[in-house]
Amino acid sequence: MAAKRILLGITGGIAAYKSAELVRLLKKAGHSVRVVMTRGAEAFVTPLTFQALSGEPVRTSLLDPEAEAGMGHIELAKWADQIVVAPASADFLARLANGLADDLLTTLCCATEAPIALAPAMNQAMWGNHRTQRNIRLLQEDPQISLWGPDQGEQACGDTGPGRMLEPLVLAELIAESSRQGALMGKRVVITAGPTREPIDPVRYISNHSSGKMGYAIASAARRAGAEVVLISGPVALAAPAGVEVRQVITAADMLQQATAAVDAGCDLFVASAAVADYRPESCEADKIKKSSEQMALALVRNPDTLATIAARPDAPFTVGFAAETTDVARYAVDKMQRKKLNMIVANDVSVPGLGFNSDNNAVTVFWPDGQASIGPDSKQRIAEHLVALIGDRLGQAAG
Ligand code: CTP
Repeated sequence: MAAKRILLGITGGIAAYKSAELVRLLKKAGHSVRVVMTRGAEAFVTPLTFQALSGEPVRTSLLDPEAEAGMGHIELAKWADQIVVAPASADFLARLANGLADDLLTTLCCATEAPIALAPAMNQAMWGNHRTQRNIRLLQEDPQISLWGPDQGEQACGDTGPGRMLEPLVLAELIAESSRQGALMGKRVVITAGPTREPIDPVRYISNHSSGKMGYAIASAARRAGAEVVLISGPVALAAPAGVEVRQVITAADMLQQATAAVDAGCDLFVASAAVADYRPESCEADKIKKSSEQMALALVRNPDTLATIAARPDAPFTVGFAAETTDVARYAVDKMQRKKLNMIVANDVSVPGLGFNSDNNAVTVFWPDGQASIGPDSKQRIAEHLVALIGDRLGQAAG
């Protein structure tokens, strides 16, 4: 999963002690964490705890000249990829819902363009109070804001009901999920998937065992990551992923034509997961070929390479290719990436039984010019999610 810059806001509530564990989990997952505490939070936990856990100075005041000289509050608001406020008290929710900017945390929430997630924590009667609920409704209408929780259960004051902060492990999972979700926000993505069929005569064709599952899983994950997705698919027995536009093709020539049209219409990322037939019969017989002699030869000609054609365009999008290899996986894959001028290549070792071709599971190694990462063995869905997060990260860096 891509590492994020997370600004953790802590407000006044007994659940503040659990945020120490949240910082530990986020750091362990590789994220950078900076903590901002309200005055109320300082009554429950000390900044020193969070400084030690995050490895960064903790900010508590808007009007602190020394801290502002290090990283000003607007700079801090721009630094964050995600703001998480946990625990979010009733008072903080009220101030945020009404657009107040009377302390550092509310000011940062006003100044940031990053998504803001709130983990409410308060007594059940305060949560149920009509004024709190009115503020919650206002916050729910805000597209920048997500509400995570609260949970039901026993409360520190002895009451039972809604108002408990979600557990740190659950919050860490939600953060991981949301970073995956936004990885391709607003991007236009074109993906090829499945096999192609190259006709020999009206009833026969040359093809391969590709099921299209990996490409369909990538299309679905890219859609969930916020992309507009066009999936150019050879003949497969799979349903169109939700929200994805599928364009059906049969031959490699159709695939090139559809991919070119889709890229012409605007494309930020091109992922070629299709198993395109490298050769096609020189000609397709108009009538069914009748058997005659003991042997027959079929003249084949090279098919156009969709991926290489798209990558060679002067306006080439970020291109990701696939390589199915049985030996020397890394060497062949990197060589293919360089030859076809790709930004990334996803290699699978198809010699491993039960993985890859026509299977529900896969294990891949991804290469880019200055790095590599291994994903799996795992289901093709999980691999696709990790892959999309990784591509989103590299694409973000390529765009500067
Ligand atoms: N590809 C393509 N159009 C083709 C052939 C391949 O778009 N006509 C894409 C595939 O979708 C995949 C990558 O190119 O992303 C695979 O490259 P290719 O050279 O076909 O791989 P192999 O067939 O495995 O190559 P080799 O013959 O070198 O083993």
